[in-house]
Amino acid sequence: MKRPNRKPGFQTRAIHHGFNPAEHHRAVTPPIYMTSTYAFETVEEAETIAEQAGATYAREHNPTTAILEARLAELEGGEACVVVASGMAAVGTLLLSLLSQGDAIVVHATLYSNTFALAHEAIPRFGIRVIPVDLSDPANLDTIDPTGVKLVYFETPVNPTAEILDIAAIAARAHAFGARVVVDSTFASPAVQRPLEHGADMVLHSLTKYINGHGDLLGGAVIADAETIARIRGTGLRYITGATLSPMAAFLVLRGLKTLKLRMDVHAANALAIAEMLEAHPKVAWVRYPFLPSNPAFPTARRQMSNGSAMLSLGLTEGFEAARRMMDGLTLISRAVSLGDAESLIMHPASLTYARRRTKPEARLATGVTEDLIRLSVGLEDLDDLLDDLQSALATP
Ligand SMILES: Cc1ncc(COP(=O)(O)O)c(C=O)c1O
Repeated sequence: MKRPNRKPGFQTRAIHHGFNPAEHHRAVTPPIYMTSTYAFETVEEAETIAEQAGATYAREHNPTTAILEARLAELEGGEACVVVASGMAAVGTLLLSLLSQGDAIVVHATLYSNTFALAHEAIPRFGIRVIPVDLSDPANLDTIDPTGVKLVYFETPVNPTAEILDIAAIAARAHAFGARVVVDSTFASPAVQRPLEHGADMVLHSLTKYINGHGDLLGGAVIADAETIARIRGTGLRYITGATLSPMAAFLVLRGLKTLKLRMDVHAANALAIAEMLEAHPKVAWVRYPFLPSNPAFPTARRQMSNGSAMLSLGLTEGFEAARRMMDGLTLISRAVSLGDAESLIMHPASLTYARRRTKPEARLATGVTEDLIRLSVGLEDLDDLLDDLQSALATP
């Protein structure tokens, strides 16, 4: 018997929410509306739609994209969502919509490398004060001058360190001085962590990673209250960045979402077993994974995540050169910069930054990222094959 008032579970909503086949010729799978504009019966009808900020042009509105937006908002527990062309488009569109000259933004000391460059190289050019704070101790927020601070922005887990930040504790302090909290939850996905439930005001994702999960597109999303999303769509997306997600990409992300939770369970089980193997390995100096019981952040991680996701960082006892040798010894795990795919991917931020410095001297490693740090995105391959690959690469002299 169907129980009244019971909300369908995450997996059911990831498959069905926001789509009614009766409205689409009874198609079970959402159709892809490849159109750039919409035709109206009369001028009056066009006026009414425009007045309601409805679909007149596909930069801000598309029916395929709208299904994805409704579903992501639902899965994150937010009122509304806007999707854009990439994760960086989400960061840029959000900041350029919500910040003005004279405002200030607090950012965590460690950020994804391009968000780090945006915060420290681009945003200050617009007369916006950027205040880096080590949010691993939320009390550090009490030491800043909060004048003009509109946003507190961080990732958890943090890219590339896999550090965990306490969303509830940071949100309480930020709200005390009137700032809103943005969490980049890309490393977790809504199947594992829902920051709005812990006091955050906005959630940001690179859809390129776990949510799509198949390494075949770029996308981004922001989930927040309806008014904020209307502002980001109506200014940032409409006439600042114009970074629209293609309907084809929206369709593929909807397909990826259907298996998100199933994938995250396998990703996390593989990652925990690998983190345990690495922790016990004599050539590994340190390993950081949110759900390793020895991790001091494990209690916080367990409070805000349902599993540890599948991003881990490690350093070898012999440091920088040993990291490069070990990575070259891998035969299954790919040396590649992205994350969250079915394929396991590994990268060494210091090697890439030093290479970039040859053409761009100001390139620098994000604060908190050490020379020995290796980042591993654990995929969905059989665990024994991943363990074998890592163990034989670690045995390389
Ligand atoms: C935490 C985080 N945020 C944002 C981005 C940017 O996403 P995209 O590559 O889709 O632009 C990335 C990309 O690696 C990321 O790891």
